[in-house]
Amino acid sequence: MPITILAIESSCDDTSAAIIRDGKVLSNVVSSQEKHALWGGVVPEVASREHLRLIMPVVRKALDDAKVEIFELDAVGITRAPGLLGSLHVGVSFAKSVALALDIPLIDVNHMDAHIMANFIEDPVPDFPFLCLTVSGGHTQISLVRDFLDIEIVGSTIDDAAGEAFDKTGKVLGLDYPSGPMIDKLAQKGKNIYSFPEPNIPGFDFSFSGLKTSILYFLKKEMSQNPHFIKENINDLCASVQDRIVSILMNKLVKATHHFNIREVALAGGVAANSGLRNAMQEMQMKEGWNIYIPRIGFCTDNAAMIGQQAYIKFKAGLFADQSMEASARVG
Ligand code: KG4
Ligand code: ZN
Repeated sequence: MPITILAIESSCDDTSAAIIRDGKVLSNVVSSQEKHALWGGVVPEVASREHLRLIMPVVRKALDDAKVEIFELDAVGITRAPGLLGSLHVGVSFAKSVALALDIPLIDVNHMDAHIMANFIEDPVPDFPFLCLTVSGGHTQISLVRDFLDIEIVGSTIDDAAGEAFDKTGKVLGLDYPSGPMIDKLAQKGKNIYSFPEPNIPGFDFSFSGLKTSILYFLKKEMSQNPHFIKENINDLCASVQDRIVSILMNKLVKATHHFNIREVALAGGVAANSGLRNAMQEMQMKEGWNIYIPRIGFCTDNAAMIGQQAYIKFKAGLFADQSMEASARVG
């Protein structure tokens, strides 16, 4: 009998539902909450209310797109942690109700593990063990993935996430939120001529707050001499910022591949859309002999298909949650 899973993601500002049958994605509906652009960042209270408004129609559409009836479901997979607590609560309460009403198992999913598992949605898939760099607006980490359920975080950011570094520097440059995609676009027309510093952090951890501060001071100085400095040099500024963020990420990733002697390297998270980062991965494929894996962009940004992928892995392992399960802002 095929196993059909309804997966739900509501950890940040995307309300998403997917139907997965035997690990194959039948539908994946993502409703991104655009309201937050008004405030220049995600407002937690607004996000929770938007999830409440969107969750029913998004789940309905996921079932309709997949041509699956609700009574055909075998389990419900739900993001339990980490994320915005209010937003997680909406998804967890909804998933519990579905599991209770249909008398089917509930599967709790770690959002970060699910990002990595997005690499198994479509071929080619990485071989174990592999290293995964997960980069988004909320996360930056390198994980050593020994098996589906054996994941060790070997490095993470000590301050801002990589996506936040794009978004915060974009704000300083007067770009709209989220500025990552715009920085990427402008960078392609510019040159890396401003050398922003690379932090010296031990191990495989990252830091991006110093970069933001140094850009701020640099711009203050330049703007005091030429008030049009940013406007006149926006492409080169974006290229310089992007190159530095990418070099911070790639230097740690290369270091990790040497340390663990692993050449299977995957990417995950919304920042995987960045052209500079993708080029750098391809460069390392040639230079270091890596086999690289980058999910298609719709599976890199927050989505329920990746939650379903992880839920299916846990289903097969018999790892279920019960009605006492609670959402958590942090892992653990
Ligand atoms: O994974 P995601 O959709 O949401 C979470 O944060 O979980 O990632 C969004 C982040 C934002 O910070 C956005 O600026 C960044 O990904 N981003 C990019 C690009 N596309 C999205 N950053 C750099 N270059 C891009 N092309
Ligand atoms: Zn995410």
